[in-house]
Amino acid sequence: MTTFVLATANTHKVTEMTAVLAELGIEVLPRPEDLAEVDETQDTLVGNALLKARAVMGASGHASVADDTGLFVDALNGEPGVFSARYSGEGATDEKNVAKLLTALEMSGSENRSAAFRTVIAVVYPDGREIVVEGVLPGRIAEIPVGDNGFGYDPIFIPDLGESRTLAQMSLAEKNEHSHRARALRALAATLR
Ligand code: IMP
Repeated sequence: MTTFVLATANTHKVTEMTAVLAELGIEVLPRPEDLAEVDETQDTLVGNALLKARAVMGASGHASVADDTGLFVDALNGEPGVFSARYSGEGATDEKNVAKLLTALEMSGSENRSAAFRTVIAVVYPDGREIVVEGVLPGRIAEIPVGDNGFGYDPIFIPDLGESRTLAQMSLAEKNEHSHRARALRALAATLR
């Protein structure tokens, strides 16, 4: 049986990934506890996902899988992008990141509110093989935060799904069906098959 070690310790992501990989007959092991957090030093999602997967493969000796996600806003030249988690700087919180993004968009003077969530998933094998896939959820930035579900930029992201709700107004099941991460996981499943 193939075994993958997960680079993430985020319980939500662990559940999502374990379910998809189990369908492919892949057993999942948790991130080695003694492995220090890998600093995301690269300036691309692909770079950071590979960095994390390589570190976990090196520490565990097993094929490893890592992901990196960002929100790319067109009128802000792709910001916050790879820096989405730390957009509002030291001590960043979801609320501060959302507030900074809405202000930046207003200051840009642009009417264009189009944006996309992008998730890159990397798999690194002990024999040196590397797989990189991406999932994209296009949408637009809402005028004000709406909804209480989810996390991160969910309250200001209206996905292009033919309606006007933000991701934070959707149930977890709905979000998981359409999300950038789900799309990346489906791309991974298709590649591994
Ligand atoms: P990560 O690479 O999955 O840790 O994501 C980086 C940052 O992107 C997070 O800290 C969030 O701010 C944002 N983000 C990632 N996924 C989502 C999502 O599904 N909804 C809203 N924000 C997200």
